[in-house]
Amino acid sequence: MAGGDFQADRPIVLVGLMGAGKTTVGRRLAARLGLPFVDTDAEVARTAGLAVAQMFDRLGEAAFRERERDAVARLAAGPPRVIAAGGGAFVDEVGRGLLLASCTTVWLDAGVETLARRVGRDGGGRPLLRGRDPRAALAALAEQRRPFYAAAHFRVDAEGPVEAVADRILAALAGSR
Ligand code: S3P
Repeated sequence: MAGGDFQADRPIVLVGLMGAGKTTVGRRLAARLGLPFVDTDAEVARTAGLAVAQMFDRLGEAAFRERERDAVARLAAGPPRVIAAGGGAFVDEVGRGLLLASCTTVWLDAGVETLARRVGRDGGGRPLLRGRDPRAALAALAEQRRPFYAAAHFRVDAEGPVEAVADRILAALAGSR
């Protein structure tokens, strides 16, 4: 199945925890819909000229969050495309408000075991998981962040293969028309 006849009239934003598959599924979804794909982390790194982990180390998390908010504002106001939002982007009140107002937001919801398996034992170099047990860190973040992610327009089960998750998103989007 390709993207069906769903025509995006605004950006589609994937939100959720690290390991939910926002980037992997986002790329697939973008290909299915014939839309460009962009990742807020990549956008922040590009504009800052620093990788996300380096930014946390050298400038601190607050500086990263400020730039992340700028990237969200820019992308939310842009043309239809698929956007993978870094796990904290939708937790920020301003960012969440912008995304809810101008985009279609989809929460990729997966269990902690799945998230932990996907980020790997070293957390894939993610600053918030560094030096911590990824499973415990993700469980704590899930507890804190669920209420924010639950504000997204759609909740999609993010367990299973990429193609199946993309299918579920397309079905949710098509059903909303
Ligand atoms: C973060 C998630 C990361 C990245 C940063 C902080 C978070 O993005 O933005 O390390 O606060 O959850 P991914 O969700 O794409 O891994």
